[in-house]
Amino acid sequence: MKFPFLIICLIIYSFNCFGNDNIIMERINNFKNTEKSLKKITKFAKINKFDKVIIEAQLIQKWFVKIPSFFPKGTQASMSNNSDASSDIWSNFDKFLKLAMNTQVYSQNIIKAAKEGNISSLSIAISETSKSCTQCHRLFRN
Ligand code: HEC
Repeated sequence: MKFPFLIICLIIYSFNCFGNDNIIMERINNFKNTEKSLKKITKFAKINKFDKVIIEAQLIQKWFVKIPSFFPKGTQASMSNNSDASSDIWSNFDKFLKLAMNTQVYSQNIIKAAKEGNISSLSIAISETSKSCTQCHRLFRN
């Protein structure tokens, strides 16, 4: 009886590892897309293409809502994955979530300013969003 049980555990364990690898790959991808979106926002804001700004800011916002579910325990950077996630994330998860929430709020401000066509608020919201990226990376990215 013991033997099959062990095998089942091993199978579940390895599935779990693959699952985490996928999560890591997907979140890295989402962060890369976020960077692209932010660059596009800066570009489109300069030429007053507010509708395009809104589309990109919505993409950013959608990702930052999902962040909590993309950082399960055990997915920090290790020799066997290509993550740069600091293990500090899980000892300060509240702080991590708060910083993710900040980016979400600032990208919401981008959407609002773009909808109003308010160039000065838009430029402030873009710079706040960008600062919020750096703030989290400084603490939680290796
Ligand atoms: C709440 C924290 C947090 C915020 C806010 C945040 N990031 Fe990150 N970012 C991370 C973490 C953690 C990683 C490492 C993920 C990994 O490798 O598993 C990362 C990785 C990245 C990467 C590297 C992807 C790669 O090639 O490996 C880019 C690019 C990036 N973030 C862009 C951004 C941009 C742009 C913003 C702001 C709009 C932002 N991030 C906001 C935590 C954050």
